[in-house]
Amino acid sequence: MPHFPASVTSRLPDVGTTIFTIVSRMADEAGAINLSQGFPDFNAEPVLFDRVAHYMHAGYNQYPPMAGVPALREAIVAKTAALYGTQYDAESEVTIVAGATQGLFTAVAALVHPGDEVIIFEPAYDSYAPAIELAGGVVVRMPLHEPEYRPDWAQVAAHISPRTRMIMINTPHNPTGTVWDAEDMAQLAALVRDTHIVIVSDEVYEHIVFDGRQHESCARHPELAARSVIVSGFGKTYHITGWKIGHVLAPAELMAEFRKVHQFNVFTVNTPMQYALADYMAEPQRYLGLAAFYQAKRDRFRAALSGSRFELLPCEGTYFQLARYSAIDERGDLVFVEWLTREIGVAAIPVSAFFADGHDARVIRFCFAKHDDTLDAACERLVKL
Ligand SMILES: Cc1ncc(COP(=O)(O)O)c(C=O)c1O
Repeated sequence: MPHFPASVTSRLPDVGTTIFTIVSRMADEAGAINLSQGFPDFNAEPVLFDRVAHYMHAGYNQYPPMAGVPALREAIVAKTAALYGTQYDAESEVTIVAGATQGLFTAVAALVHPGDEVIIFEPAYDSYAPAIELAGGVVVRMPLHEPEYRPDWAQVAAHISPRTRMIMINTPHNPTGTVWDAEDMAQLAALVRDTHIVIVSDEVYEHIVFDGRQHESCARHPELAARSVIVSGFGKTYHITGWKIGHVLAPAELMAEFRKVHQFNVFTVNTPMQYALADYMAEPQRYLGLAAFYQAKRDRFRAALSGSRFELLPCEGTYFQLARYSAIDERGDLVFVEWLTREIGVAAIPVSAFFADGHDARVIRFCFAKHDDTLDAACERLVKL
């Protein structure tokens, strides 16, 4: 086995094995029911796979245009206009990416200069801070506090400076399940008015909002749409997280910069999948029905745990349920998750992993994007604690 003969100076010295890998490994070893992983344990509809096979056999297997297959871009533009009211230009304002994470990374790489400050809200999806650091940016962290995890806008205002280049937002929010409302978006718009700040809006859970709420896309707010890079994807919406296909919307001026980076780190995304998705999007119920589908799973999971000693925090959207376990155990969340996985046989994610400083409120995250049988079996174990 070859060894590099000198020392390596890491660009990301603080990044190690992620908690998701560690817990998944533990779950495998223990044969635990895995509610840690943020993806479904059920399949997408066969018709979607039939469309992919159709396009592969029909010869759609070479590079598509750099920005994505036109039919798919047009479908995204039409859906966005119908749902949120903003009309994007399919030619210059939408790009198909290799998953939302790549879209987020590329947006940061294209728009953040060394020394620029980027505000993020913690707990945060784990790719935001490394992307900013690799671009030479400075991460400015705004804490969201349990149990509601809502933004403190006065605190955000106090942290905006002439060096603030970007604010990264995520609604519906992983891991907390919080959904921002119109007032949050109005506060955000007021804060960035008359500045050069760009919003990067991570909306991958846009179709998973509960109890009649509406998703406040930046595309629903013209003032925000004019300064936003909106990143979303097909993984969560169509139960195909492993396909890694997403899309990015932005005004042409921002998109031109985005594409300068995109064309050299990805260039294009799988051709037959793009054609298949364009066909599959023709039926709106396939994304409009998702909220009710997951709301039923949320309700089932919460009802099954209602008699337990877990305190269930609000879940307004996404497929994640947070639970405080301090009535069961006083140890830290990493230790608790290891015990839960190895001894009880249910794997979850410690929420401290989403904070740079490891803030630990004795809260863990369960993913309920699982078969009802899987959820029931997990709850049977959890209610006994
Ligand atoms: C908030 C958030 N953003 C982005 C992603 C990544 O999406 P993709 O798999 O399309 O890169 C995830 C996936 O878990 C997520 O939870």
